[in-house]
Amino acid sequence: MGESILETRRRLLRYLAASPLALPLAAALPAEDAITSVTDALNVFDFEEAARRALPPAHWGYLATGVDDDRTVRANREAFDRVQIRARHLIDVSRVDTATQVFGQPLAAPLFLCPVSSMRAFHPEGELAVARAAKAERTVVGLSTLTTSRVEEVIAARGEPVWFQLYPSNDAQVMRAIVKRAEAAGCQVLLLTVDMPLGPNRETQRRLAKTDARPCAACHDGTFAGYVRRKPMFDGLDLAKVEDNIELAMNWDYVKRLRALTSMKVVLKGVVTREDAALAVEHGMDAVYVSNHGGRSEESGRGALDSLPEVAETVAGRIPVLVDSGFRRGTDVFKALALGATAVGIGRPYVWGLAAFGEEGVAAVIRMLKAELVMAMQSCGTPRLRDIGRDRVKVAG
Ligand code: FNR
Repeated sequence: MGESILETRRRLLRYLAASPLALPLAAALPAEDAITSVTDALNVFDFEEAARRALPPAHWGYLATGVDDDRTVRANREAFDRVQIRARHLIDVSRVDTATQVFGQPLAAPLFLCPVSSMRAFHPEGELAVARAAKAERTVVGLSTLTTSRVEEVIAARGEPVWFQLYPSNDAQVMRAIVKRAEAAGCQVLLLTVDMPLGPNRETQRRLAKTDARPCAACHDGTFAGYVRRKPMFDGLDLAKVEDNIELAMNWDYVKRLRALTSMKVVLKGVVTREDAALAVEHGMDAVYVSNHGGRSEESGRGALDSLPEVAETVAGRIPVLVDSGFRRGTDVFKALALGATAVGIGRPYVWGLAAFGEEGVAAVIRMLKAELVMAMQSCGTPRLRDIGRDRVKVAG
């Protein structure tokens, strides 16, 4: 008996979903093909459709969006296609070791979870579920200024300090209070996000919000005070002078003042050029973090992986180089390590896991990326992280 048109279509979609074109096509999978258990997932993209189905359209739009035409979101993925791995063989890979340390903190693999705001918009247990999964998988959590769980409770759930991400308020008193609270809670690393403009043009988010029948104003009343009502970093602070979480006057003097204000290590998140990397080293930063915010801030059209080599070459091993934006495969992580990254941040994929399956989903995504990294290290003849050198990749163009 021949197969029906529906079966043929399904088979074709499954085939296409397994191809490198999977990202734009994932949403086209028939609804009944979305995974219903973490054990059904073959790769992290499988969590994407499951998350889309679990979330209301406005929250899905917030997670998926880039800015303008989402060109930088796509560029983040396309950048990996221009880097090939040079696999070597006849090397003993019977034992592969991914364990590492960043800022003295032991990690099971050179992976960390990027700061993502408002996790309770994706799952009722939000940041606490993420912290528990991170503890189980021995990775580190980047916690957003816009966390919807208390920093003290997130650290307790993780059982170790988290990295605190700072969006500097335009009111210096509020900024100071937030930094001091993170420090008092036990955070030892501060990620200062330097790439966020005021009100980025997130059209995908706005378009999807229009399709959401729920009354958004019940939670988002349009004011800053309303916005941070469920953001505990702002509890008890006088917000009268706060216009936004963005300090448009921020410059290198500001960074110097922040450095003097805190004993935490200071990392600049959003460095994408050799010029800014050189200034970061000059200003005594403890690390640079190559990122374009997952394509959610500037519409540069440039993938984060494209920016990594010039930053890593400039830093020349003097401080760690972190990177995120578009990482979805173990081979993606391998390529970044070869191009000079110390560790790689995962953003949307763990939130897909969270939205679809809570803590279990987050843990499954971390495990999957680690397993893929192990496979890449085995198949390319690099049993130790330090074997993944620049000679292991060829960059096209
Ligand atoms: C983010 N990101 C982010 N970054 C930051 O510094 N502070 C924040 O509060 C947030 N919030 C946030 C929310 C959502 C929904 C997303 C998807 C992202 C950016 C994040 O830290 C990271 O740079 C990107 O997510 C990495 O790209 P991928 O892995 O999502 O492609």
